[in-house]
Amino acid sequence: MGKFYSKNYWSVGFQSRLYDRLSPESYLESMRRVVAFLPEGKSLTLLDAGCGSGLLLRFLEARIREGLVYTGTDLLKSGVGQALLRAQELGIADRVSCFQSNLTSPYPGDGQKFDVVVGHFSLYTLASNELRLLALKNLKAFMKMEGVLILTNPSVDYDADSIIEQSVRLVRERHGILASLIKQYLVYPFTKAIGLRFIQKQLSSGKWQAYTREEFSQEMERAGFAVQHIEEVYAGSAFIGIGRLA
Ligand SMILES: C[S@@+](CC[C@H](N)C(=O)[O-])C[C@H]1O[C@@H](n2cnc3c(N)ncnc32)[C@H](O)[C@@H]1O
Repeated sequence: MGKFYSKNYWSVGFQSRLYDRLSPESYLESMRRVVAFLPEGKSLTLLDAGCGSGLLLRFLEARIREGLVYTGTDLLKSGVGQALLRAQELGIADRVSCFQSNLTSPYPGDGQKFDVVVGHFSLYTLASNELRLLALKNLKAFMKMEGVLILTNPSVDYDADSIIEQSVRLVRERHGILASLIKQYLVYPFTKAIGLRFIQKQLSSGKWQAYTREEFSQEMERAGFAVQHIEEVYAGSAFIGIGRLA
């Protein structure tokens, strides 16, 4: 895979909105799962660490309208820009802010602490165990004492075909047979060719991190989190973990 492709993979996807258009239903389902794990309470503060283009905002919209305050941060200017644009389009910009930062560097902000910190498919792209541990420790500094960490990362069983299969089934159940046929034959072939295969290759070559359940749990524990729950999401291709400060 060319260097240009790997370097510009996310920013091109975010700016062209191909990332949104090609995201498989199963990925969106994983975001719904994140929202399902949010604590009760109207005025929660949430940090979306490695927010990308703010796709999670689509699923947080109702909670944000009820009072949740969202902050997104990402390495990429294109991601932060798209997230802010999305918030405007959704009409929730007054409760959304975003800033550019590197999760492996100390927090550049004003020391604000959050009720919830989410890392949805963001830390696994960090190249080494040390960098991921550093990022997780930095996330701890963002959290209130009673705060919750919701983390999603790929599993060693990551499988593009299973993700597509589950996505087609979910679309059929939710939106009917026609919508599922359109996704299956006109959209998901590109999802697989442009997106999932590339990610699978990055994972199998070890450039990005895929986890066993034990490794996922151990990494959170090493960073100082008490792991409360782990479950499979994304057609068995990822885990979602819930942690609290130990
Ligand atoms: C797979 S995308 C996920 C984006 C978003 N969380 C979602 O699920 O749609 C991975 C994101 O992690 C971000 N990322 C990777 N390394 C980062 C770092 N060191 N600091 C901040 N963001 C980072 C990338 O820029 C990219 O936007």
